[in-house]
Amino acid sequence: MTDRPVPVLLRHAAPYGEEPTDVLLADGVIVALGADAAAHPAAAGAQEIDATGRVLLPGLVDLHTHLREPGREDAETVGTGSAAAALGGYTAVFAMPNTDPVADTAGVVEQVFRLGQDIGLVDVLPIGAVTVGRKGERLAELGAMATSVAAVRVFSDDGDCVSDPMLMRRALEYVKAFDGVVAQHAQEPRLTVGAQMHEGAVSARLGLTGWPAVAEEAIIARDCLLTDHVDSRLHVCHLSTAGSVDVVAAAKARGTAVTAEVTPHHLVLTDELAVGYDPVFKVNPPLRTDADVAAVRAGLADGTIDIVATDHAPHAQQDKECEWDQASPGMLGLQTALSVVLETMVRTGLLDWRGVARVMSENPARIGRLAGHGRPVAVGEPANLTLVDPDATWVVRGSELASRSANTPFEGRELPGRVVATFLRGRPTVLDGQLVGADVGAGLGTRGE
Ligand code: DOR
Repeated sequence: MTDRPVPVLLRHAAPYGEEPTDVLLADGVIVALGADAAAHPAAAGAQEIDATGRVLLPGLVDLHTHLREPGREDAETVGTGSAAAALGGYTAVFAMPNTDPVADTAGVVEQVFRLGQDIGLVDVLPIGAVTVGRKGERLAELGAMATSVAAVRVFSDDGDCVSDPMLMRRALEYVKAFDGVVAQHAQEPRLTVGAQMHEGAVSARLGLTGWPAVAEEAIIARDCLLTDHVDSRLHVCHLSTAGSVDVVAAAKARGTAVTAEVTPHHLVLTDELAVGYDPVFKVNPPLRTDADVAAVRAGLADGTIDIVATDHAPHAQQDKECEWDQASPGMLGLQTALSVVLETMVRTGLLDWRGVARVMSENPARIGRLAGHGRPVAVGEPANLTLVDPDATWVVRGSELASRSANTPFEGRELPGRVVATFLRGRPTVLDGQLVGADVGAGLGTRGE
């Protein structure tokens, strides 16, 4: 899509939920902001959108998405995942490399990158695997991925931990050459053999093998020390425990270049949900306790945790609707993330809308070294934007989500806030809460074929 987008005039939109104003988008950027925007020469022929009562945010950026392509197109494709992302208010997503083949070469990351560009709903930034095949044995060709068309800056073996400290050290050293970051799935494998859920009172009651908090905390502590030792940059994926918040806070206090993410589900759901043995609540790291939920919310509010990342993990029906111990871990997240953050962080007074922009757009773009996203709502900035109705509520139905899978842990739950429109470089990808003008491939809306 190289043709020029029709200009858009947003009437009475409230940037960051503050004073309503008019906002003019033309040629992919914000060209005017204020009462005189409609009088700007570029406003001629603009599509007008009444944004009264709507909050305008920089387009959301997800640093942790699973798009499943190549290899598991029955669960998600770059097309269906891009659609879910745009509908969730995202303009860029970073795609995890645990695909088949694994995204551990320039060829695979370029393929995923180009698919995303062709679909054109969000910018898809492939994350490269740290180790060949994600096997944790030897480093992948990080440099070749970094210099490829996909310009990879984030490397992760997510789904598995880079548990060998020597390999982790080497990866941290290597990514410095291109200002990259290693995003660690912090899980000490020897402490989590056969783990099925959080280790605690509920796992003891249910007789399921526990995944102790220390298995996460020990790896984060080790990796912060390694990061200091080689003067590199570390990102902690899906931090889930109160102890991990303390470890990251201590490292930041002594100057470690560490950032951390929390998922929407860890902001609200707990291990009590396992009592029904419904695998829709099985996820890795597992849902923790009320005390952990309180600690990660507080950590996000005070900046110890830098971002909310979805860990959007679509799974085909047969991989979720089975016995708990057989089920794949993971939950959908792209279309519910903003609503969960609104409920858990904004409605509770822990974050304002500027804070939401920081943790869901600015910080993830900065950590991923992604230019053009996570920018302020200001004249001259790229028109990557999300328009939100903060007063709307909706009931989540997995079958109605754009993802090719339906494994939402919020099924039937009423959530606040709806994404009304999303703009990628000035072009609407979502209007009136519906996708516009995109061919996302045969998978959209069809399942289980
Ligand atoms: O629950 C999870 N699902 N955690 C991970 O780390 C991987 C992900 C997946 O790929 O399904």
